[in-house]
Amino acid sequence: MALDGKENAVPEQVTVPAVRVRKRRLGAEPLVMVTAYDAPGARIVDRAGVDIVLVGDSLAMVVLGHDDTLAIDTATMAHHVAAVARSRPRALVVGDLPWMSYHVSVDDGIRNAATLIRAGARAVKLEGGRQRVPVVEAIIGAEIPVMGHIGLTPQSLHVMGGFKVQGRQRDAVEALVDDARALAEAGCFALVLEAMPDVVARSVTDAVPVPTIGIGAGPWCDGQVLVLHDLLGLGERGDPRFVRRYANLGAAATVAVTAFAADVRDGRYPSADESYHIIEETVPGPPGS
Ligand code: KIV
Repeated sequence: MALDGKENAVPEQVTVPAVRVRKRRLGAEPLVMVTAYDAPGARIVDRAGVDIVLVGDSLAMVVLGHDDTLAIDTATMAHHVAAVARSRPRALVVGDLPWMSYHVSVDDGIRNAATLIRAGARAVKLEGGRQRVPVVEAIIGAEIPVMGHIGLTPQSLHVMGGFKVQGRQRDAVEALVDDARALAEAGCFALVLEAMPDVVARSVTDAVPVPTIGIGAGPWCDGQVLVLHDLLGLGERGDPRFVRRYANLGAAATVAVTAFAADVRDGRYPSADESYHIIEETVPGPPGS
């Protein structure tokens, strides 16, 4: 806890250095990361006490209705990072660099990372292994912390031939460990491991000094991440095997809106109590009375 100017205890914000040391083998508690794309979503996950709020480019699929993440650009990501940051979460806000924002040149990568930081992120995430070392080093050189992301990298959808589990062959396992080491040496403060066999994620986790955060990567990572809409049951896409639904809010929301529609159609909404009245005038009865 820290003190504000009026000597009230305020929860300390989660920082990049605090995340960097969260290795379970050093006795740390597992990291919890959840996505959010707007202020209400960020408030929900922050009040739940997560460590990291990821404004993921999954936004493209989960909220904007695209089939993949390739449609989204830096300006759209910044718009949503700003909405999340306005809720002033205690959790560390990480903004996802979208496809083509760091692929053409290192300079592009720095400028686009800066756009997300100016929108309110305190770190950025990008996808890819060893081939990303120059851009990772350049962004960190501009004082912007970087989270890596290997395994199933949705921005490489067409190269991978679909959203497919990675690292199932022996040589792919070695490549993933090498990628993770290269990203950690380049300065990434944490690595997302997406959709790989549990034992592969364990080898990667053992191989690097920074925390790994798994999604479909088994129980031995240093933390876990889920997409908010998946864990709340708000998603329309078929749930992959790693998704655990903690609520069924999509169905509950449809029940609520159906009840509203029926109340309007049957004249039960709004009631007199839900209407404004002229002062001191008799409240009129419902239409037709
Ligand atoms: O965009 C995203 O939500 C992500 C997570 C699935 C890690 O990258």
